[in-house]
Amino acid sequence: MGNITFIEHNGNQHSVDIEAGKSLMQIAMDNGIPGVDADCGGECACGTCHVIIDDNWIETTGNVTEDETLMLDMTPEKANTSRLSCQIPTSEAMNGMVVRLPEFQM
Ligand code: FES
Repeated sequence: MGNITFIEHNGNQHSVDIEAGKSLMQIAMDNGIPGVDADCGGECACGTCHVIIDDNWIETTGNVTEDETLMLDMTPEKANTSRLSCQIPTSEAMNGMVVRLPEFQM
């Protein structure tokens, strides 16, 4: 199935198995990754599942909707490759993907 590596703001790394079809947020929650809050449960309404995708992988995560863009614009640590992890369905094509976590979720 493959794996995805989450890197916390402090540098701690966590490699987790991909469960194709689950969102990146759900995989993070299921594996207890610190730094993903997901307060709205995946409804694209809170912005607390913000992640920063490694440059080499951003295209693999698919398109950003207008709603997601609006939420990301309110995120203090927004970067060029920021995404809301609840809006990214995972697939085996993401084997090896690297995802960084912001210092804070707001
Ligand atoms: S979990 Fe709330 S926006 Fe992703």
